[in-house]
Amino acid sequence: MKVIRTITELRQEIGLKRQATQSRESIVGLVPTMGYLHEGHASLMHAAKQQSDIVVLSIFVNPIQFGPNEDFDSYPRDEARDVETARAQGVDIVFIPSVEEMYPQQTQTTVSVSSLTDRLCGASRPGHFDGVTTVVSKLFNIVQPQRAFFGMKDAQQVAVIQQMVNDLNMPVEIVPCPIVREQDGLALSSRNVYLSAEDRQEALVLSKALRAAQEAVDISADTTAADIRRILRENIGRSSRAVIDYAEIQAFPSLEPLADQEKVHGRDDILMALAVKFGKTRLIDNTRLQRAEVLSHV
Ligand code: PAF
Repeated sequence: MKVIRTITELRQEIGLKRQATQSRESIVGLVPTMGYLHEGHASLMHAAKQQSDIVVLSIFVNPIQFGPNEDFDSYPRDEARDVETARAQGVDIVFIPSVEEMYPQQTQTTVSVSSLTDRLCGASRPGHFDGVTTVVSKLFNIVQPQRAFFGMKDAQQVAVIQQMVNDLNMPVEIVPCPIVREQDGLALSSRNVYLSAEDRQEALVLSKALRAAQEAVDISADTTAADIRRILRENIGRSSRAVIDYAEIQAFPSLEPLADQEKVHGRDDILMALAVKFGKTRLIDNTRLQRAEVLSHV
C-alpha cells in the first residue's frame, strides 16, 4: 500500500496501477473520508475492495465544509492508526493531501447544489454542502474513479452528491453503503469520541426513536408523517440533555418533506432523519422506512 501526499504523485501511481491490468479497463474505487477511521469506514473500504480493482482512500479534513464556529481545529485525527486500518482493509493507495495541496490559493470556484442543500443539515450548517461538493468534485477530478463509496449515515450528503453527479454528467457511480452501528444501536461516527460517558448513554435515544417510529408503522398502516414526527420527538425528549436540531420525515432522495396528514404506508422512498445536540456535540442518524414490514401488517 502506498501513502501519497501530492496530486502529481497520486496521478502517476494510479496510471501505473491501471497499466498493470492491461487486459481490460481497471475499475478505480474511491473512498473519500476525513480520517479517524472506524468500522463504518471499514465497511466502505470493504465494499470498495469487492467492487473495484484499485482502491484509493482519501483522508482530508476539509476546512471549507466547516463553519467558523465548528470543530475544524479539534476534529479528531490519527494518521498512523488510519494508515494501519487502511492497510488491514487491503487499500492500494492512501491519499493524504495537505490543505495547501488541495487549496494552493484562495478558492474562486465553488460547486454548489441548490435546493437539496437548503434543508436539514444545510439549514443549520450554511455553506457546509458547498464545501462537501467542491472537495468531492476535486477528488473526483484528481482520482477519476469509476465508483465512489459513501456511508448512508450522511444520507443528505449522498443525495446531494448523487444530484451533483447527475447534473454535471460526472462519469462516476455513487455507491451508498449501510449505516454501521454499535451493538447498542449508536451509529458510528468519528465525532462520537467527543461524547462524555453520560452523553454516550443518552445518545441512544436517537436509534431508539428511529426504531419506535418504524414499529409504529409496522403496527398501523394508518400512521401519518405527523405521528412519526411526534414519536421521534417524544423519544428523543426522554433525554433531558438532548437538544433537537431536526427530527424529520421526507422522501428520499428528493428530501421533500412529507405533509403532516400523509400516510407512509407502502412507500419505500421514505427517510426519517435526526440531528440532535448533546452539549457541543451534534449527532446525526437516520433510517429508511422498511416497506416489507409495512405491507406485512395490511
Ligand atoms: O463524509 C465525509 O467524511 C466528508 O463529508 C467527505 C465526503 C469526505 C468530504 O470531505
